[in-house]
Amino acid sequence: MENNKLQLGLIGAGGVGQLHLKHGLMLKNAQITAVADTAKPVLERAKTQGIKNLYPTYTELLKNPKIDAVIIALPTHLHHTCALQAAEAGKDILLEKPITLTIKEANDVILAAQRNSIKLMLGYPMRFNKHFLKLKTDLADGLIGDVENVHATYVCAGPFVHRDDGHSPAPVPDWWFNTQLSGGGALTDLGCHIINLLRMLFGEIVDIKAQFGYRYSMDFEDSAMCLARFTSGTLAAINVGWYAQQYLLRLDVLGSVQHTSIGHMPPKTLSAAYQMFTQGISEFNKPHFDELQYFVNCLHTDQEPSPTGLDGLKDLEVIVKAYENKITL
Ligand SMILES: NC(=O)c1ccc[n+]([C@@H]2O[C@H](COP(=O)([O-])OP(=O)(O)OC[C@H]3O[C@@H](n4cnc5c(N)ncnc54)[C@H](O)[C@@H]3O)[C@@H](O)[C@H]2O)c1
Repeated sequence: MENNKLQLGLIGAGGVGQLHLKHGLMLKNAQITAVADTAKPVLERAKTQGIKNLYPTYTELLKNPKIDAVIIALPTHLHHTCALQAAEAGKDILLEKPITLTIKEANDVILAAQRNSIKLMLGYPMRFNKHFLKLKTDLADGLIGDVENVHATYVCAGPFVHRDDGHSPAPVPDWWFNTQLSGGGALTDLGCHIINLLRMLFGEIVDIKAQFGYRYSMDFEDSAMCLARFTSGTLAAINVGWYAQQYLLRLDVLGSVQHTSIGHMPPKTLSAAYQMFTQGISEFNKPHFDELQYFVNCLHTDQEPSPTGLDGLKDLEVIVKAYENKITL
């Protein structure tokens, strides 16, 4: 800690890491002072963004005693080893979703965090979306009633997104197309966000079945349609896909008192520009910033951040179950 500001290290400054870097530079009570990435151009870009401590390996970053906490935004197959090393080095961790490739690895990370008394939070920005948070309050206050059904849709281009935006790495990083490295396709990538969100709203999932789509004839699913049953009795249709350039994130909640629909859509170019000009951040990325701010605040006030490692493990267990319970109509 320097001048009451937590010193953060960013491990992996690719797609989502860039977003963390941008947001980290806006924080008042923390600063990103170190970046580790194996890609030289990524480190060069971080240098132009004012980062002084640049490392070609995360092992070197973790040796820096001034770093209080790390954000791990590495390809998913590296989450396990990196999180274990970070925990052993005594750094608090914000770990990107999905927690790890396997349930065993997730348990390792949770135990390492406990053993080293460090804080571990999973990166799930939807939990910081003000509309979803209002829905949580409305549900608790009984305004929606008993929820019979939820329809959750999260469709976008995934790794097939148009890469000329200066934000997404081009060409598409190879690991996204190798399930040994990514853990799976659209269900793993997008489904874990929805599963995590729905668990926050409706409790634990007791059963799930899934039909998968292979529009691009890859060896991983580019879409999944799941039916999940919650402890509350609520039934959810979870529809995720990597097949559309148009982004759609939407929740339709059908309750015994009233129904509600919530969407989270990218703003139109003009209003995004206005939001950037007036607030330095677009409404679309605000939950992502709030997530990082919350993590930092928890470290300052010595509170356990949430979603926890256990949340990440439970999400992964549901995903594994969905892959096992494959149906074909
Ligand atoms: N929370 C979200 O909304 C969100 C969004 C996108 C991705 N993610 C997750 O974040 C993670 C990263 O995804 P991405 O799209 O940013 O990937 P990416 O490939 O764009 O970025 C990964 C970065 O890690 C670097 N890297 C690779 N191996 C490394 C190593 N051994 N040491 C140091 N750096 C290394 C790469 O050079 C690259 O810059 C994934 O687990 C993904 O699921 C989360």
